[in-house]
Amino acid sequence: MSKEILLLSGPNLNLLGTRSPEIYGTDTLDEHVARASARALAGGYQLRHLQSNFEGALIEAIHEARERSAAIVMNAGALTHVSWPLNDALATFQGPKVEIHLSNPAAREPFRHLSTLAAVVSGSISGFGPLSYELGVDAAIALLG
Ligand code: DQA
Repeated sequence: MSKEILLLSGPNLNLLGTRSPEIYGTDTLDEHVARASARALAGGYQLRHLQSNFEGALIEAIHEARERSAAIVMNAGALTHVSWPLNDALATFQGPKVEIHLSNPAAREPFRHLSTLAAVVSGSISGFGPLSYELGVDAAIALLG
């Protein structure tokens, strides 16, 4: 079995650290990913991370994961609320899939209340701020058994 977990970060998450710090905190994406990588290594997995502002690049990474990754952890950013193509892509991946968010979209504007991914992921982690990426990896490892 593959020992790789794919971590995906969607649009605007490259701006973490300076983007709405009152909502998303001041940690950069690199800092979130570094802690998530440490969690993966502690559990015996290698973390591969891709951030893209392009939906198609995220879809292609999911397709590639079908052949090479044991699990997917994904913060799709605002694509979470609108992307049926991401829903379709994730549905083709057989392993554990964990949706993560730094904030709690259910407690925010109404347009954030729908997740197009919710029906095709194993589960979701939202609202844990600087812990969300690590908890997402922990959840994936737990599901991998
Ligand atoms: C987010 C929540 C989304 O609603 C938002 O569009 C983001 C970040 C989060 O991590 O809290 O870009 O996914």
